[in-house]
This record gives sequence, structure tokens and C-alpha cells, in this order.
Amino acid sequence: MTRPPMPDHRPDRVALWRHLRLFRRDILSAQPAKLYRAKMAEFRLPFLQSVMVNTPDLVRLVLQERAGDFPKSGRVREGLRPLLGNSVFVTNGATWARQRRMIDPAFEGGRLRDSFPAMWDATESMAVRLTQGPQEVEAITSHAAADVIFRTLFSVPIEDAAAAEVYQSFRAHQRAAPILNLAAVIPLPRWVPRPMPRAARVTARRIRALITGMTEARAAAIGAGTAPDDLATKIMTTRDPETGAVFETSEMVDQVAIFFLAGHETSASALAWALYLVATHPEWQAELAREAQALRPHIGGPAPDFGILRQFPRIRDTVREALRLYPPVPMMVREAANPETFRNRPVAPGAQVIVSPWHMGRNAHIWPEPHDFRPERWAQDSTRAQARDGYIPFSAGPRVCPGAGFAMAEAVLILARILADWELRADSARVPVPQAHMTVRARDGIWLDLRPRN
Ligand code: HEM
Repeated sequence: MTRPPMPDHRPDRVALWRHLRLFRRDILSAQPAKLYRAKMAEFRLPFLQSVMVNTPDLVRLVLQERAGDFPKSGRVREGLRPLLGNSVFVTNGATWARQRRMIDPAFEGGRLRDSFPAMWDATESMAVRLTQGPQEVEAITSHAAADVIFRTLFSVPIEDAAAAEVYQSFRAHQRAAPILNLAAVIPLPRWVPRPMPRAARVTARRIRALITGMTEARAAAIGAGTAPDDLATKIMTTRDPETGAVFETSEMVDQVAIFFLAGHETSASALAWALYLVATHPEWQAELAREAQALRPHIGGPAPDFGILRQFPRIRDTVREALRLYPPVPMMVREAANPETFRNRPVAPGAQVIVSPWHMGRNAHIWPEPHDFRPERWAQDSTRAQARDGYIPFSAGPRVCPGAGFAMAEAVLILARILADWELRADSARVPVPQAHMTVRARDGIWLDLRPRN
């Protein structure tokens, strides 16, 4: 006998521990199916109220219209502080607003164009490293995305000694760190200390020491007038329009840490899943490969104009669709500052409010065939209207990802470059299982066979 559907105003009640366990093990298939239809879910916790909002109006309320009343959760901040200090990712209020005023100009349209040659060089380097045969592609995309960040931020390739060490330390940190978002909703009272594991503290300290060295060297170069014109110089010389001050070097270290983390992990995840989706849709892949040939005259040469990306509309739509199905940041956690009422249910001050790009992207009320890979949907006006409501892989509102345009450009370029040279085949015996780590990763990696394209 099937259970009658819940009345609309009654949020689903889900046992949190079960949900978290499933989320970690396999986000895709172990989710209670009703969560893709639920308008709101409330988790049963002994000490803490936790609600997941799942309708466009509630998501808009929390992320945009009243974002100030739903600050970043203190629990998330606690977990990230050893690595990220007071970076823009974890701050709130006036400190956060000041940091965004100084960071955002570095990612505006014109600057993106300036970053493109460094992105191009990283992509060309990746192309040289690619080899024929079955391989795990998350390792490839992670390496490439880290190279993009080092080159655009500090004008150094990943082969640079300090850059290589930061990259290796980040990988070690990832293995040692607790699973980021989930730690924030664990049902323990606030007074229970939840220290970062020792191994993760060591890697966090090492990363910060390396980044401090790079940032101090850059501050000296700026002082001497010898600094390259890259993102680090741009951010470190941008004056707060309200106070005229620039970032202190120590504050800049915090920002650099989040650029590496937010900029490299996420793009690597998005690209790896996009490659998997393309590999499992051979006809679409053939169309993309034809589109990608527009790169051919430029391969091995200097970067073409940034405008070349306009020649890859289908590849762009493929990235959009991959971000809908496998959003690298699967959950965002906020905290209710005041008493609220959501869908006739009281939400207490201090309650954790979870916004889930994973569930919104597969929400059956918003997307036709929500679990299917249908990149052609992005060519339709109706999809763009749905995207306004339910498409939040980069979040939305004042805390929207400042690197969204950068990440889209990077993903389109890298995908086009791979498809120009290689045919991708998936192995039906190795279907990747998505898991929530710092980003959505595959449990045993994503294995694809690369064959030279004729
Ligand atoms: C596909 C790639 C990316 C995805 C899916 C992504 C997604 C997101 C999301 C969902 C948030 C909001 C998190 C929250 O509010 O809890 C965020 C914030 C942020 N992202 Fe990205 N991101 C990507 C790439 C980048 C890149 C390339 C950079 C920089 C180079 C970047 C820098 C940041 C920063 C600094 C924040 C914090 C913004 C704030 O809190 O005001 N991201 N990103």
C-alpha cells in the first residue's frame, strides 16, 4: 500500500542521521525520493532544529530578499577557520561586505578577459599531459583547475615549487578534513567542541604558511613596482571605495586560501562530471566535438581573443546541465537570526537553514525529467525562466559566487580542448557513485577511456 501524499504545508520529517549517512555514501540513489518533491524538509534533531528549504520562493527569501537575516552558519565557520581564517567565505555583516567590495572588481567582465591568456596556457599544458587509454579523470581536472588558479592568481604554473606544494597539501588536507557541509548540521549542542582532526590542522597550517610566503612576496613586488598584472595584484591594490584602505597582507592570505579552495575543488568536480555525462551520450559528444574544432587553428599557439568562447554554445549548455545534475557545492548552510515561519511552521532563532543546489537542480516541480541529462533544454526560453527560480549551483543573491563567470569560461575552454582531441568512452562496469565531500566527488573516481579523435 502506498502512503498518501503529505498535505502541502506539512514538511517532510526525515531522520537526520539516516539522511546524512546516505548523503555521504551515495547522494544520487540513496536520497529518499520524496525529498525531490518536498517543498520543505525538517530534520529531527535532539538539540537543534534544521530545515531544508526546497521551493524557489523560500530559497529566494533566504539567499536574496532577506539574506542579512540568514547569515553564514557559525558551525560552518568553526570547522573552516583553521584553513580559511577570516576569509570572505565565512565572514558576515560589515566585514563580509567590505571584503566583497575589494574582491568583486577582480572578477568583473573586463578582468575575466585579462585572465583568459593564463587560463589558455593552463589548458594547453593539460592537453600536453593527456594520454590515451582508461584513466581516472578527476585527477586530470583537479590538476588542470589548480593550474588555472595558480596562473591567474599568481602568474605561476603548477610546476612552480611553492604552487606544487600548496596543491599537494590541499590534497592531503582534503583527505584529512571532515566533510565540510555535513559537519555543520550534525546534531550536537553548540558547546560540544568539534575540533578539526589533528592531521587536518597540520595540513591547514602548512597550506597557510605557503600561501603567506607567496602573498608576502607579492606585497613586496607591488611595493617595488615589479608585480605582474594578475588577480592577486588586482585584489591587493584595490582600495575599498568607502574607506580607501587595501587588504592587509594577513587578510589577503585568508582570501587566497578561499580562492584556492573554492576555485579549484569546485571547477575540478564540475568538469569531471561533465566529462562523464558527455562520455555516456556519444551522439551529443559527436556534436560537441564538431563545435570544439573552432579551437583547432589556435592549438599550440598564443591565446585567441576571449570572444572565442561564444563559438561553443552547446559546450556551454553541457556545463550548465552538468552543474544542474552534479552541483559541486551540494548544500549551503545558513542560520536563522530571528524567529521565522516557513510554510506555516515555526523556525526558531539559531535554526540551521539548508539550501540544497542538489535538490533544487533535480526538483520535480521545476525541471521536466529532472534526473535526465538533456543539455538541449538550455536552448529553450522556458528553461531560462526555470533557471531564474531553481538553478543555484553558484548560489544567488549578495553571496553569489564571485567566480561564477570565471568558472564558466574555464569549464567551457577545458571541455572544448579535451573534446577537440579526444573521444571519451565510459566503462559500463564502473558507474561513478556521487558522494558529498568538500564538493561532490565520485566514490571510486570517474574512469573514462580516452581515444585519439580522427
Ligand atoms: C564550477 C565552479 C564553482 C562553483 C560550482 C562554485 C559555487 C559556489 C557556491 C555555491 C558558493 C556559495 C557557498 C555558500 O554560500 O555557502 C560559492 C562561493 C564562493 N566562491 Fe565559488 N564556485 C565555483 C568556482 C569558483 C571560483 C573559480 C572562484 C574564485 C576564483 C570562487 C570563489 C568563491 C568565493 C570567494 C565564494 C564566497 C563568496 C561569499 O561568501 O560572499 N568560486 N561558490
